[in-house]
Formats: sequence, structure tokens, C-alpha cells
Amino acid sequence: NLEQYVRGLDGHLPEFPFSFAEWEEKATTLMSTSLLHYVAGGSGDQHTQTNNVEAFHHWGMTPRMLAAATERDLSIELFGMKLPTPLFMAPIGVTGIIDRDNDGERACARAAAATGVPFCASTLTQVPMEKIPGSLGETPGFFQLYTPSDKQLAESFISRAEAAGFKALVVTLDTWMPGYRPRDLVRSNFPQLRGWCLANYFSDQRFLDILGQDPDKDVRATARAFASVFGKSLGWEDLGWLRGTTKLPIVLKGICHPDDAKRAIDAGIDGIYVSNHGGRQANGGRAAIDMLPEVAEVCGDTPVLFDSGVRSGVDVVKALALGATAVGIGRPYSYGLAIGGAAGVEHVLRCLLAEAEIQMAIDGRADIASLRGDIQRI
Ligand code: FNR
Repeated sequence: NLEQYVRGLDGHLPEFPFSFAEWEEKATTLMSTSLLHYVAGGSGDQHTQTNNVEAFHHWGMTPRMLAAATERDLSIELFGMKLPTPLFMAPIGVTGIIDRDNDGERACARAAAATGVPFCASTLTQVPMEKIPGSLGETPGFFQLYTPSDKQLAESFISRAEAAGFKALVVTLDTWMPGYRPRDLVRSNFPQLRGWCLANYFSDQRFLDILGQDPDKDVRATARAFASVFGKSLGWEDLGWLRGTTKLPIVLKGICHPDDAKRAIDAGIDGIYVSNHGGRQANGGRAAIDMLPEVAEVCGDTPVLFDSGVRSGVDVVKALALGATAVGIGRPYSYGLAIGGAAGVEHVLRCLLAEAEIQMAIDGRADIASLRGDIQRI
């Protein structure tokens, strides 16, 4: 991971810049206005989104010296899989078109193959989910479910994901209805219901049966059918059903309260994913990183995934210290995708990993376990 940084010191600067601010700035010049509003925007006045990022600055680690962290081991174990790094790519709907070559899901999968960083495919993809794992190489992929209100369609998505070779099912809880996002709705008029992000629906016989007509025949009717099945507000009573649908590890995304985490674990859920959707759903809430330690404390051996606001390798290290088993990023790799397709995503991941590893070295931590708990509010 350090190689590209060291080469940079030697004057071999890569095609892409090294920090989040520069990735965002460069992506801004390359993305259409509507796409940029969609990716960069959050809900309401973006209070939560801003807070997610700023809150990282209120946590600090204390360096340890004479610790001989000359070799670092960044590997983790997740659901029985040994992964070379603690990072993963969080699910991003409409990843397809963020890519400059318009093949975003497979571009991210290729970056996953190159780095060993798992890619979590959204329900909202440009290509059917079955076309993604072939580009992942040896790296595991996860499938994120927006649970359709139609149970048969939900079960079909889940069994398709399992058959396609995804290694975990990430069920997003906070988006059974979209957040209040003025930048999407008013300024950009982003056509999110168009066919290109609904490939999993159009490739599913159950959805076509619900639709009862050729999807292209009447676009408004198709949009209405999609809206009618898109989201189910899951309740605790649904977890038994969910557990019974698959042998895959099930992760619940959007858990922020320790009581919810405890109850989910008691119901047989395999992983807790602390996230506030990058500030795109509820607004005015606490920063995700501030909620992480309370939730991690009650999770015991159950893995804790985390995202929302991670912008640097130092943020990755802090999230691990605060109890995350694996750390997800959203917008940073989306900008990498916009800037340089698979190579851009790979570059972003390697920059984050290089910074995280350098930070661990200087702080005197040789592995992830040694980071745990060694952080304070400042
Ligand atoms: C998302 N996110 C998201 N989450 C999810 O479960 N399914 C999805 O389809 C999407 N789509 C999506 C699109 C875009 C453009 C963004 C930015 C985010 C949320 C995502 O998985 C993750 O929670 C946040 O992106 C993490 O916050 P940061 O890293 O962007 O601050």
C-alpha cells in the first residue's frame, strides 16, 4: 500500500491526486450537475452529513514510542473470511453511471479484485447482480438489499444474490422511503427511476409479473410499479423471515442504537452495520462515528461494520479504534470512479490504506487489535 506514496515522493506522481478534497474537486469538473448533486448531496441542510465528517476531528489517539511497529498487519477476519485490509466499499446506488466508462459496478469489482477490498453492490445497479462477481477475482462481494414490499420479489433477490456468489447480505433499514433531499428533487431533477439503475428488477420475473407489461412500453407505469415495491419498512417481526431466506451472513445496515444492536443479535443477525447513510436519510442527527463506540460495546463477538464520514486513512484508524471490525467508504470511492474508473477507485483505496498504515506505524500499532479502545474524545 505504501508503494505509490513512496513513488510519489520520488517524483513519480500518479495520474490522480492524493486527498479527499482533491478527489471531490476533480470529480466536480467531470460529473454532470445532476450526478454531482446526487452523489455529493445529503438530506435537508446537510447538517448530519457535515457533522459526520467534522466529528472525526473530536477523537484523538495517543502515539506510543519504542513500539517497533516496523511491520504492520492490516488484515481482519469477517464472517470467517480472511481479508487483507479492514476497508470495504459501501453500497452506492447507480454506481454504473458514476463511472466515466458507464460500467461502474464492474469497475468497482475490478478495483476490489486488485486490492482485496470487498465491494458491496447496491440493489440499484445498472447491470443485473449476476454480472458483477465475475470481475471480483478472489475478493468477496456483498449484496445490499433494499427490501421490496413484495416478499416474493425480496426472496428472489436474496436467492439470486446467494446463487451469484455474493458472500454476505447487507439489509439496509433506513431507506424504506427516500430522505428529504432537495438537491435531488429540486435542483437536479435526477431521473433515478430510469431503467439504468433498475437492472435487478428488470431481470426478475417476479417484478415483470407485477408490472404486467413491457417495462419500456409505458415508462410512467414502470416507475409507479417500481415505487410501489421499492421499500418495506421492516419490523422486528420480519427478522425471523429474513433469517430463514438465506444461509449467507446477514448484516443490518443503519443500526445506531445499542438496544437495536442487542435485539438484532438476539434475533440471529450476523453483523451490525453502524451508519446514518452518509447523512442522506435522517438529518439533524448525531455523527455516525460518535454512535459507533456505544453500539460496538454491546456487540461482543458480532462483527461491527461502520461507514459515514470517513475521508482519510486516519479516519479509518479512528473507526477501528472505536470498535469497527471493518470500515466502509462511500463518496471517496465514488469520486475515484468518476475520475478514473477502476483505476481511480483502486487509487483512492490505496491512498486510504497507505495513510492508515503510515498512521499505525508512527503511532506504534502493529495490528488492528492493538488499536482497539486506544482513543479519546478531545
Ligand atoms: C449511498 N448509500 C447507499 N446505501 C445503501 O445501502 N444502498 C444504496 O443504494 C446507497 N446508495 C448511495 C448512493 C450515493 C450516491 C451515496 C453517496 C451513498 C449510502 C452508502 O452506502 C454509505 O452509507 C455512505 O455513502 C457512507 O457515507 P460517506 O462515506 O459517503 O460519507
